[in-house]
Amino acid sequence: MLVVEDSPLYSADFFAVGDPWAYLADLRENNPVSIHRRSDGYEFYALTRYDDVYAAYVDHIRLSSSYGTMIDGSYRPQKDSASGRMLIVADQPAHTAIKKPIKASGFNRTMLERTGRTVRRNIRNALAELSVGDRLDFSKVIAPELPKGVLEVLFGIGSKDATVLLEATRTMIGYRDEAYVGTSPLDSLVDAQLEVLDFIDDLIEQRIRSGADDDMIGFLAQCVTRGEISRDVALLNGLNVAVGGNETTPHTASLTVDTIHRERSQWQKLIDGDVSCEVATQEFLRWTSTNSYVQRLTVTDFAVGGYVIPADSFVTLWNMSANRDSSVFEHPDSFVIDRPNNKQLAFGAGVHRCIGAPAATLEIQTLIEELASWGKAFAVVETPQRLHSNFMLGLTELQVEVVKSKDLGA
Ligand code: HEM
Repeated sequence: MLVVEDSPLYSADFFAVGDPWAYLADLRENNPVSIHRRSDGYEFYALTRYDDVYAAYVDHIRLSSSYGTMIDGSYRPQKDSASGRMLIVADQPAHTAIKKPIKASGFNRTMLERTGRTVRRNIRNALAELSVGDRLDFSKVIAPELPKGVLEVLFGIGSKDATVLLEATRTMIGYRDEAYVGTSPLDSLVDAQLEVLDFIDDLIEQRIRSGADDDMIGFLAQCVTRGEISRDVALLNGLNVAVGGNETTPHTASLTVDTIHRERSQWQKLIDGDVSCEVATQEFLRWTSTNSYVQRLTVTDFAVGGYVIPADSFVTLWNMSANRDSSVFEHPDSFVIDRPNNKQLAFGAGVHRCIGAPAATLEIQTLIEELASWGKAFAVVETPQRLHSNFMLGLTELQVEVVKSKDLGA
């Protein structure tokens, strides 16, 4: 098995300025299961083929999430501090018990309808402010409108509070990227974490007092009152949903707009009505693969791709690589807006599959629908700035000019 010393997969810079797609394509072709070491002794196995990534996702018995799903997210033998209490870092049976109230209250049909309406209103209002010739940074002016809509509904807060929460979670997660926090990352991280936790805890307190249960936070607060979950669990999972929602879809939205500009002839098919927004959304999700990988720890030996990964090993599941696997996707390196039967793995699979996937899909589809009917378009006027992260693929800056739709050209 290939062993890579000082692998570029550890490097946020490589993901910002290098070509991780080509690096992963080479691994997928020649070394689909490989080991990546760093000089401090950290080591992980990398799965790059679709079938292997999928097999790992659905084997939540052999592969544990409770040691953190990010490289460097936590260190053995000490588990993640939220381990077993927060969805993303909980194994069975705790995971199922936590997931139930969150899914029932945050992602039921009524909530999704409300979320869709709020996101559409936000996007529409933001686009209505713009005239042909305006220049703006899409990633800062429009993209945040998507998760803001989700927060407004799930957390039962107004637009201003949603903006505050959004900015705090951004600082908390994007702390390695100077675009978000300047030059004092550690202080910013600690402050931002405390700010987000205080904010959510205040909301829980308010809902406990009022008894309201018509949003996700209210529902969780009433579960606390009835003694069904602890207040810590409500708080940590409010945080998980806020971060999960805020740090993904805005990046997907920015990458979507950049892709529309690059793939104008494909986009024209949608404008001409030759492809539905629903089908196109799946291809934007495959193409952007915002969450590049997740990590697991093997609790027993795990056979995959013709190898046996020993117990107690970190394993990374590369979504971005699985989504370009030619054994599943025809012409995987081409953006095909009407790709049929799109089995993209952007949201993972198995019990941990993104709980926010229906909301995220709705957000991106709503953006696409609103852009398609806008009559104007965004032309990218400067090289987009990629996020310094190997975990999230996104843009910290996307300078665009508003043009007439027909002037984007095909
Ligand atoms: C395009 C946008 C998104 C992408 C690409 C994405 C990706 C993912 C992936 C790959 C996982 C699986 C993690 C694992 O298996 O360890 C996940 C889990 C999760 N996501 Fe998302 N996500 C997105 C949007 C959202 C939204 C909008 C929310 C909330 C509003 C959200 C909340 C969560 C939560 C709470 C989990 C943990 C679920 C669990 O462990 O059971 N995500 N997401």
